[in-house]
Amino acid sequence: MRRRCEDDRESITIMVDGRPLVARAGDSVAVALGLNDILKMRSSPAAGAPRGAFCFMGVCQECAIYIDGALRQACLTRVAEGMVVELRGVP
Ligand code: FES
Repeated sequence: MRRRCEDDRESITIMVDGRPLVARAGDSVAVALGLNDILKMRSSPAAGAPRGAFCFMGVCQECAIYIDGALRQACLTRVAEGMVVELRGVP
């Protein structure tokens, strides 16, 4: 169960697999996805197992997904208006 504390940060919209998702300015992509109940970011290349953010500090690489066309760590990338996120992960 996740719940956001009340704050007055700006709401922004990012696109996730072609669908709009509302996020709060300053959040990482990983946090924005999690708060919208998107915990599976990709599947592992070998077994197809679900993968998602684990360490939230740039160490595990489990959150590597395509953000604005480049493979980036979702936990270290802050959301930005109009950002395009693809949940396909590492090829
Ligand atoms: S969650 Fe571990 S590197 Fe992003």
